[in-house]
Amino acid sequence: MYKRLRPLLFSLPPESAHNLGLAVARFSKPVRSTVKGVLRYDASVLSQYLWGLQFNNPIGLAAGLDKNAVAVPFWAAIGFGFVEVGSVSARAWKGNPKPRLFRLPADRALINRMGLNNQGVEKIGARLSRLPNGLPPVGVNIVKTPDAKILGAAAIEDFTTTLESVITSASYVTLNVSCPNTSEGKTFEEPEALDGLLEAVLKIRNDTRRHLPILVKLSPPVSTRFVFDSFIDEIIEVCMSHGVDGFVAANTLSSRPELQTPTREILRIGVGGLSGEPLDDASTHLVRYLYRRTEGLVPIVGVGGVSSAESAFRKILAGASLLQLYTALVYEGPSLVKQIKMGLSQLLIEHGFQTIKQAVGAEERVRWRLEKPTRRTPAQQHPQGT
Ligand SMILES: Cc1cc2nc3c(=O)[nH]c(=O)nc-3n(C[C@H](O)[C@H](O)[C@H](O)COP(=O)(O)O)c2cc1C
Repeated sequence: MYKRLRPLLFSLPPESAHNLGLAVARFSKPVRSTVKGVLRYDASVLSQYLWGLQFNNPIGLAAGLDKNAVAVPFWAAIGFGFVEVGSVSARAWKGNPKPRLFRLPADRALINRMGLNNQGVEKIGARLSRLPNGLPPVGVNIVKTPDAKILGAAAIEDFTTTLESVITSASYVTLNVSCPNTSEGKTFEEPEALDGLLEAVLKIRNDTRRHLPILVKLSPPVSTRFVFDSFIDEIIEVCMSHGVDGFVAANTLSSRPELQTPTREILRIGVGGLSGEPLDDASTHLVRYLYRRTEGLVPIVGVGGVSSAESAFRKILAGASLLQLYTALVYEGPSLVKQIKMGLSQLLIEHGFQTIKQAVGAEERVRWRLEKPTRRTPAQQHPQGT
């Protein structure tokens, strides 16, 4: 169905197609139970408890697609095991001038410089508090209002205002300190500033009776040689010393690895965060690095280029307990979620895992061809067990 609709959607400017898709998802109530029936796939090997929450499967919707939390029941109906809404900021924000979203079909990628447009926590928080029961975990990704005039203590207060407004409705909260798309830059992805932010955030969380899991979303390593920002070890250290509950790895990439899309087209598009398949290796590398540095102490959500059961499996073996996707959904449509879940269950079972937890970080124990296929062929979509 989506494959037939895609040419129509792709004939529209990317942001218009996005808004149309979101409107369909938002008003899908009459067909939701049919969609749910068709796309249903459960397997006990995919289910796990993390942070006291039940995840029926590890495939989640990444932040940025449903920034204003308008279609959460739809994402649940198409089979996501959890949904992350946002980024949400204390004040409503318009984002950058359009055009600000671009397709790179040859690379199955997107470039965006949306600039954190969202309706603000008052509206979004109210919407979240009205969500029906029985949904999978709903995480809220929060960010500082990207107003360069909000600095220092005011910046921390801006963040904590948002946290306090969603503290009862969120299953978990992700602190977005790594958005590459604001003129003010990544003000909190730096050890000293992050230390101050986490101090305030975790104090608020610890003062409540409920242990709301707090995750930190980081940038992928820049360049194809996976060079990390020199601060990465300090950032991990700061997060762990404050008792952060997990990481989301990774946000979009501001540099440009080798791409199929002609360079002149990339130059024409200009600045923005790259997402989709070209981000897969870099984000997996960050997952692996975090898993090793933290000795697997906290769960990691792997995001960036997840587009198949194989890419999902690679990230789990590298250390991800959960996964998220955005760009692949634009290219493949809602049935992708079921396809990944089916393929992933098969891969887990073929490799002798009874639960997903056993596979997390197990890459050295698994005889698995870790090199990435260059082109997806039917044989590669259904690899033989080793
Ligand atoms: C158009 C667009 C908007 C995004 N907005 C956000 C956002 O508001 N907050 C955030 O943390 N990540 C945002 N992201 C990043 C995604 O959550 C994800 O980290 C990234 O796209 C990599 O995953 P993917 O390759 O599956 O798309 C956005 C991505 C895209 C493509």
